[in-house]
Amino acid sequence: MTAQTIELESQLDAIRQEAQAAIADTETLDQLEQLRVKYLGKKGPIPQVLGGMGKLDPADRPRIGARANEVKEAIQGDLDRKRTALQSAQIQARLESEAIDVTMPGVFRPQGRVHPLNGTIDQVLDIFVGMGYTVAEGPEMETDYYNFEALNFLPDHPARDMQDTLYLPDGNLLRTHTSTVQIRYMENNDPPIRIAVPGRVYRRDTVDATHSAVFNQIEILAIDEGLTFTDLKGTIKVFLQEMFGDLPIRFRPSFFPFTEPSAEVDVKWKGRWLEILGCGMVDPNVLKAVGYDPEIYTGFAAGFGVERLAMVMHQIDDIRRLYSSDLRFLNQF
Ligand code: DAH
Repeated sequence: MTAQTIELESQLDAIRQEAQAAIADTETLDQLEQLRVKYLGKKGPIPQVLGGMGKLDPADRPRIGARANEVKEAIQGDLDRKRTALQSAQIQARLESEAIDVTMPGVFRPQGRVHPLNGTIDQVLDIFVGMGYTVAEGPEMETDYYNFEALNFLPDHPARDMQDTLYLPDGNLLRTHTSTVQIRYMENNDPPIRIAVPGRVYRRDTVDATHSAVFNQIEILAIDEGLTFTDLKGTIKVFLQEMFGDLPIRFRPSFFPFTEPSAEVDVKWKGRWLEILGCGMVDPNVLKAVGYDPEIYTGFAAGFGVERLAMVMHQIDDIRRLYSSDLRFLNQF
């Protein structure tokens, strides 16, 4: 073996060692690729060394060729192992940075809920819709005719005093009850009629724990041939049973201009009689006002305040809580 052969061998070994150290120091895949080009590329050091083989003893050439291949394979092996290591380090880093901590508190969105007044209205309407009633509505701004006159309130009748209202500059008024919709609906529809009417009403009342100048009512109207007080009583009984359960109820004689006879209905709730609603057989004068023949058609009506009902059912002590939008109160429903 000649000194030249030994020299080439040691050059190859030096390349191998230099590459090994450089690869070990690499931190990125890009750098690694640069090293691959540098050590194994066509312009790399190994072909250069092999270029010097022409001066060798021909017997030594295979030896150097074999050694060059060993070195190439060793460098290739180092590159492959390093690439695998860098790739898995990269995946590991990504897993750590993108990890989802399922125990971390989520983004809190408070859940909305139905206001107790709307909940009560829904409950009442569900019961009447279940008995075949249709939901109807009417305007809050009304004329004297719909609010009073057509409902058989005579111009100077003292019953008007119980429902003092707010008059608008044009002579119209804010309706004091949802009974207005009885007239409006009957004017536009023929019997048989079964309607349930939710709506906001107004009174010139001083606000206190049980009074509000704006509140909600639900009105019931049924008109047909042959309806009697028995039908009224049965309907009210079913409604109150659905609402309160099987509690004692009583009908007390009362007066409303638009019903004859009229009654008020109480429910015995926690040992006390609670006045829940007004009702009665529709007065023939009301039927005449909308052009129905009272000899053919009869009917019954009922009306009540939603706030009162909600307050009884949920044991709410002050009506103003229902309008205050205080979440500490509303979250209880
Ligand atoms: N409109 C009455 C009020 O606001 C309530 C009422 C009583 C309605 C008797 C009716 C009824 O339909 O028959 O005080």
